[in-house]
Amino acid sequence: MSAHELVLLLHSYVRWAVLGLGAAVVVDGLRHRRSGEWSARSERLHKSFLAALDSQLVLGLVLYLVLSPITRAFFVSPGASMKVRELRFFGIEHITVMIASVLVAHVGRVRSKRAGDGATRHRRVFGWTLTSLVLMLTSVPWPFMPVSRPLLRAPSSGVASSASPAAAPCPPVFATRCASCHGTDGRGDGPLAGGLQPRPRSFAEQGWARAVSDEHVRSVIRDGGAAHGLSPLMPPHPDLAEGDVDALARCVRAFSERP
Ligand code: HEC
Repeated sequence: MSAHELVLLLHSYVRWAVLGLGAAVVVDGLRHRRSGEWSARSERLHKSFLAALDSQLVLGLVLYLVLSPITRAFFVSPGASMKVRELRFFGIEHITVMIASVLVAHVGRVRSKRAGDGATRHRRVFGWTLTSLVLMLTSVPWPFMPVSRPLLRAPSSGVASSASPAAAPCPPVFATRCASCHGTDGRGDGPLAGGLQPRPRSFAEQGWARAVSDEHVRSVIRDGGAAHGLSPLMPPHPDLAEGDVDALARCVRAFSERP
């Protein structure tokens, strides 16, 4: 499993801790808004919610800034990316609303600590946490949303292992940088492919490998699609070693010869 898959998996699951604890904090606030006792349990609950929320924020930022090929593709050409729903969602919308909801939750913490009595404290925690939760709920990529992700992500099983022994095996970097769009079998059906227009190239398409030169493929990988009049959604990879670019070019061309 790559670092990207691992963090994505954690980000998908910690969500449930955040939402569950958030809901518990809201219910707790509602129940005690009159009786007003700010108990050790209320304190623990509120702290756990914020800890889960902060962990989720860190995981999200690692994806956003380091690991996600979607945000990498977004920043290649933010202007063009704004027209692609999937890239706009993860490049701008999701992160903006989620950071806002984290801020709201923390403002609630600070404001509640300043409350003179328990009842006021509960009412403040209730109001701020509910607002934070509602914001969050609008920006999770739920399965029924235009940009959707699974409720319970399953760990994916290896990459390019299905390649026939005769074909050039893909270097590990294919799994971390390419498979998300082009698919583990190079068929252009990776998890991100659905939202992209044009779709990522299927390397398995009949005759594709013969129609393109080795130099062209290497250059598209290194310099990105935009440099060749192709879609800017095919991101450049200027940091890859020559050896990796060569190995990637060989392996993607070999997909079309695989059974
Ligand atoms: C964010 C999604 C995305 C990622 C990640 C991505 N690609 Fe692409 N790729 C595309 C899209 C979209 C196209 C189609 C461009 C077009 O047809 O205008 C494409 C096209 C290509 C082409 C075809 C060029 C041609 O002329 O037919 C090659 C080769 C390629 N990608 C290789 C790679 C490799 C190797 C990696 C990993 C290092 C990679 N891509 C990562 C989206 C992606």
